[in-house]
Amino acid sequence: MKVLIVGNGAREHAIAWKIRQSPLVDELYVAPGNAGTAAIATNIPVSATDIEGQARAARQYGVDLTVVGPEAPLAAGIVDFFERQGLAVFGPNRDAARIESSKVFAKELMAKYGIPTGKYEIFDSYTVACSYVKSHAFPLVVKADGLAAGKGVTVAKTEVEAVKALHECLVERVFGASGDRVLVEECLVGPEVSVFAFTDGESMSSMVAACDYKRAFDGDEGPNTGGMGSYSPPPFWTDELAQEVRETIMEPTVRAMALEGCPYKGVLYVGLMLTEDGPKVIEFNSRLGDPETQVILPRLKTDLMEILLAVADGTLNKTSIEWSAEACVGVAMASGGYPGSYATGIPISGLAQAEAHGLVFHAGTSQEQIDGSATLTDGGRVLTVVGKGPSMDEARAQAYEGIAQISFEGGFYRRDIAAGIENI
Ligand code: AMP
Ligand code: GLY
Repeated sequence: MKVLIVGNGAREHAIAWKIRQSPLVDELYVAPGNAGTAAIATNIPVSATDIEGQARAARQYGVDLTVVGPEAPLAAGIVDFFERQGLAVFGPNRDAARIESSKVFAKELMAKYGIPTGKYEIFDSYTVACSYVKSHAFPLVVKADGLAAGKGVTVAKTEVEAVKALHECLVERVFGASGDRVLVEECLVGPEVSVFAFTDGESMSSMVAACDYKRAFDGDEGPNTGGMGSYSPPPFWTDELAQEVRETIMEPTVRAMALEGCPYKGVLYVGLMLTEDGPKVIEFNSRLGDPETQVILPRLKTDLMEILLAVADGTLNKTSIEWSAEACVGVAMASGGYPGSYATGIPISGLAQAEAHGLVFHAGTSQEQIDGSATLTDGGRVLTVVGKGPSMDEARAQAYEGIAQISFEGGFYRRDIAAGIENI
């Protein structure tokens, strides 16, 4: 088979790495890809959000299945566009992807079907929203309804912070149409966990859980980022908890989406807070997580292609999906200045040495055009190094031995990913 992966992050490199291992796959393409995917697949220079360009590439290369990594093309209807042209594609269609692209849709779905989540109110008026937050206790969470590249959520500790977030959304419109409506939510407290399952719209696979680190610096200091590291499995993710999450959240959500006339096919990713009153949904995402993918796919024992094809064929109930009990730790290395402004085009050294210790998944990297030899930085998060082992300590040691081999001017990483996490 010929497979095309849409995207260019470390998540997409990890998907490509896993699919490359499948005996079912002869040709692998990534569009647009990065220097890491170029080593194991053919990169096609088409942006992830250029839906027509992606479909043209799929036809031109005779692709049998396209796998969509990021949320933006899903929310823009890449699956609908491909299906109209008779092209096979993995991911939810536009209506189903609303579970991520509209937080209002997701909240209303949960309210209607009794899926546990925090209390919330929806506003489209700045004045009305302000008077609401003034009469409520803090902290409160203010969220833009639509996609906002991970920047649409403010956990407001004070009225001043909440009002500022409401002003940015509803008055300054910094998120454009994504901020036409805002949610003001109860602030949930507890350990946070990302949970993933494949679903064909009816059946759901076994689940896998991971934790990510969003702040830029050690000790959860500094600004929010796309994710500086992750580990899997969390020590608190017991069979009992998994069963509870499956029965009270994941399966009811898959059923609810079908009942609403938008059956969900693809990967369902739920962000949970494990509160004193049980697990509650913070948000749904319509795809695999980044940086969680980098630590869950190395634990997937089943051929990923078999799973993707079973989702496409609606035969997931006949496919058993197994995860290894091993631990994985992923540490991201970022450009100096990230998540603010940063330079690109800086040569990276030590990549080959790092690969002797762990898996190196590229994100913002490019292959120098002049002699094709050097790998250069080309983004904020540059790469993730993943260690794997029978215990979290061993996985962690491997990841850090690997990343210590790599250097580029200004590059930095957190030293505390999976530190103090119990062994499994
Ligand atoms: P996001 O940018 O959508 O990935 O969300 C950012 C983060 O905000 C989440 O990972 C949570 O840590 C936090 N968050 C979102 N909603 C809530 C909530 N209702 N209560 C507490 N924390 C929240
Ligand atoms: N790990 C956060 C995300 O993928 O949205």
